[in-house]
Amino acid sequence: MNKYASNLDAIPVGKLAPDEAAAELARLAAAIAGADAAYYNDDAPNITDAQYDALRRRNLLIEKRFPKLKRADSPSDKVGASPSAGFEKAKHAVAMLSLDNAFDDEDVAEFDKRVRKFLGLADDSELAFTAEPKIDGLSLSLRYEKGVLVLAATRGDGETGENVTSNALTIADIPERLQAAPDILEVRGEVYMSHDDFEALNQRLTREAADKTPDLFANPRNAAAGSLRQLDAAITASRPLHFFAYAWGEVSEALAETQWEAMQRFKKLGFKINPLTKRCKDVAEMLAHYARIERQRAVLGYDIDGVVYKVDRLDYQARLGFVSRHPRWAIAHKFPAEKATTVLEDIEIQVGRTGKLTPVARLKPVTVGGVVVANATLHNADEIERKDIRKGDWVVIQRAGDVIPQVVEVIKSKRKKGARKFKFPDRCPVCGSHAVNEVNPLTGKTDVDRRCTGGLVCPAQAVERLKHFVSRRAFDIEGLGEKQITSFFEQEIIKEPADIFTLRQRQETGDINLYTYKNKSDGDIYLDKEGKPVATNKKSIENLFDGIDAKREISSARFINALGIRHVGETNARLFASHYGNVAAFYEAAVKARDTEIEAYQDMLSIDGIGALVAQGVIDFFAEAHNRDAVDRLLAEVTPLVAQAANTQSPVAGKTVVFTGALETMTRDEAKARAQSLGAKVSGSVSAKTDYLIAGSGAGSKLKKAEGLGVEVLTEEQWAILVG
Ligand code: IVH
Repeated sequence: MNKYASNLDAIPVGKLAPDEAAAELARLAAAIAGADAAYYNDDAPNITDAQYDALRRRNLLIEKRFPKLKRADSPSDKVGASPSAGFEKAKHAVAMLSLDNAFDDEDVAEFDKRVRKFLGLADDSELAFTAEPKIDGLSLSLRYEKGVLVLAATRGDGETGENVTSNALTIADIPERLQAAPDILEVRGEVYMSHDDFEALNQRLTREAADKTPDLFANPRNAAAGSLRQLDAAITASRPLHFFAYAWGEVSEALAETQWEAMQRFKKLGFKINPLTKRCKDVAEMLAHYARIERQRAVLGYDIDGVVYKVDRLDYQARLGFVSRHPRWAIAHKFPAEKATTVLEDIEIQVGRTGKLTPVARLKPVTVGGVVVANATLHNADEIERKDIRKGDWVVIQRAGDVIPQVVEVIKSKRKKGARKFKFPDRCPVCGSHAVNEVNPLTGKTDVDRRCTGGLVCPAQAVERLKHFVSRRAFDIEGLGEKQITSFFEQEIIKEPADIFTLRQRQETGDINLYTYKNKSDGDIYLDKEGKPVATNKKSIENLFDGIDAKREISSARFINALGIRHVGETNARLFASHYGNVAAFYEAAVKARDTEIEAYQDMLSIDGIGALVAQGVIDFFAEAHNRDAVDRLLAEVTPLVAQAANTQSPVAGKTVVFTGALETMTRDEAKARAQSLGAKVSGSVSAKTDYLIAGSGAGSKLKKAEGLGVEVLTEEQWAILVG
């Protein structure tokens, strides 16, 4: 644990005496350097991103107040190390997705129902699932060509991972060659470390550190990840890692007819499959197996965090396909959260990208399920009020999987006398603007969240928006992560997204000088201990420019997601991109749609999955001149690509279709999913823009409207012929 991070803000900056300020700057420099090393070099962050940002912010505030006290090794001069350079990137032939979660028996029953509904199966028809432990490690994809391992890649962002082939080859459970395998076979599974090996590794690291403080792994999963992602394969070889196979990516021929048989095939090929894998004939058997696995959890010798159920028949899996990032045919049934009690030392308010004020509990660090927890989210003012959470209280906290820890309840009997109710601030702690609970324009309800009204003047919002802009699912710029963005923002080198794309030009014209990290606005040249300019690292700055240039062309969906419009995340951004085809058309529609009567508004609402609240978020965003200006400046630098329909070959790519009435050969959900996968837009209502109405039996008003508008009407059979 980084101790400094937890007792931050002891004295307000305004009240610091110079000697206190100097001492604190020294402590901050050490704490930030320590956090950098833990994050970049050891793969084991010792504080949260929010704590890290708070440290840097406080450092900067003190430096602003006492410019003369600024240290030669000031953290504000460093852009931060570049994230895990060294591994080659590896694009996955088939994306590596994650699983949807179920938290109780009911969720599992609903999953079974959803699958049946999608496939059009009766409640009492046969539908088998496999059930197996969910291993808490890191997933790895192993590509074999003609039976030889040619690539081992980590998951990364699901599309692109890191090439860790030489490291994977040191793992005994991973065969280098396969007999009688398909020509192309990607085996996927989990790399993990056993409890015993984890303990032994930490003991060894302690011995090796001799009298220095050892850098230990917090849990077996971090140990497995840190060991696999070693640049030196000899280090990986010295760490005992294991592998269970449970899924596959690209295959040149079908592996089997069922999930169960595919797993048996893996076993024959020489892979380990989890011995607790079972084929279950219905939900009751699945839940019974879940209970069995949960009972064995403590003695398994490795970490698991739930049970994964998968539809057994592979033809069903193929029909079910995927929805955004999850397969429809599988679900992870998580084990209940682990709990602990500790003291809540303070309540801090964080300001997010949309101005939302989130209260965060600073806790006396406590171990929950093998992980040290020092913070928990408190959600909003209502939550604090409802649970009556006060500073100094003893609280029960829980942690479920990778979810942020939460405060479950206060132990009132242990409350100290005189503990006062928490007063939620009505001003933004970062910029001082009023913070208000907005009234939803559509429902008239007051929002539970309090938001800073500072908008563009609030540095917390600006910097969070920029972080979102460069994040993985948005622009994903190599060499420009959260830490670099924060630093550039603090130096006023990047204030809005377009500034990222003018960096090279500003550098070339001498407007800024990144080599010395000289910033024109105050004319300072930051010097190191010897008095030489800092960061004269041409190579890393050239790499940064190249990373930026590589994103001058970007998918329209990523572009839209990057804007950080309220309610528009990855999924909705994709819906907009494929509906409008490009950013310009989306922009134009959003401006026109301000008048809710107008066709542009109706058209936006006709997008399947887009409701009034999302539309309002988009309209509000483009109603602001400063937002339009910022987007215009960005569009002058960046070219969003025309959204490719998922399948441009198909005769219905780009067409708008509406289904109505009862279909016979497939369910409505399946028909919709299939049309979308062929690049069609599926709308819920008929308008002049509809290309085809597919009318099943009993079609009524939509059919009439389509006929009235002269929209082409197809029977289910004609549709099936059209799409092949
Ligand atoms: S199946 C298409 N089976 O859980 C999805 N995943 O939350 C294929 N995991 O990224 C995944 N044990 O790293 C599957 N028995 C298991 C698993 C498992 C652990 C991990 C995997 C995945 C994550 C999803």
